[in-house]
Amino acid sequence: MANITVFGKGNMGSAIGGLFEKSGHKAFYLGSGEQAETIGDMVILAVPYPAVADILDRYAADLDGKVVVDITNPVNFDTFDDLLVPADSSATAAFSKKVPTARWVKGFNTTFAATLASGQVSGREKTRVMLASDDAEAKALLTDMLVDSGITVLDAGGLKRARELEAFGFLQISLAAQEKISWTGGFAILD
Ligand SMILES: NC(=O)c1ccc[n+]([C@@H]2O[C@H](COP(=O)([O-])OP(=O)(O)OC[C@H]3O[C@@H](n4cnc5c(N)ncnc54)[C@H](OP(=O)(O)O)[C@@H]3O)[C@@H](O)[C@H]2O)c1
Repeated sequence: MANITVFGKGNMGSAIGGLFEKSGHKAFYLGSGEQAETIGDMVILAVPYPAVADILDRYAADLDGKVVVDITNPVNFDTFDDLLVPADSSATAAFSKKVPTARWVKGFNTTFAATLASGQVSGREKTRVMLASDDAEAKALLTDMLVDSGITVLDAGGLKRARELEAFGFLQISLAAQEKISWTGGFAILD
């Protein structure tokens, strides 16, 4: 059993923490304004993109050697037309430069919270989480830790693929915001 620290008690924090709990792990949840006494073996950043910088400032030393999962979609909500990171990079790449001693993984950003909670996209297809990281062991560990969670995991490649995952997440959000797809639906990945 591993201890997971989940920053954020919102839709994604509860859905992702729930997946680890289903798989027999212990999740500790931290809301805004709360201070962690200790940081678990794995960290999930289930907060809005602009909130991550402050968490990294406060906990940089505690994240040393920890698997840190960035689930953010850095959407510019003022324009709803672009991302807040350069087109040839990603939020995760920028975070990894800020705290290079953490083991960075991009993940969970292409699956809506409701599909993580139910395990299904549109009630039809199994929810599949995509991961991108240069740390193959971290991805394998995360995949093992979710084995009994009811969802499946797909290794999407190295950290450079975080850029595509963020674009994918953005497209899915923009479709749902325009009510062309539902928040319980989205992209399903089939073999
Ligand atoms: N919702 C989705 O389907 C979905 C899908 C893919 C990716 N994402 C990404 O997941 C992240 C979370 O989204 P969400 O839908 O879960 O948002 P949410 O329901 O609004 O929850 C965000 C949570 O983060 C908390 N928070 C803000 N700053 C914090 C801090 N410094 N430390 C700890 N907690 C903090 C908020 O607390 P307060 O309310 O007290 O400020 C709130 O509980 C976002 O980056 C989003 O882009 C969401």
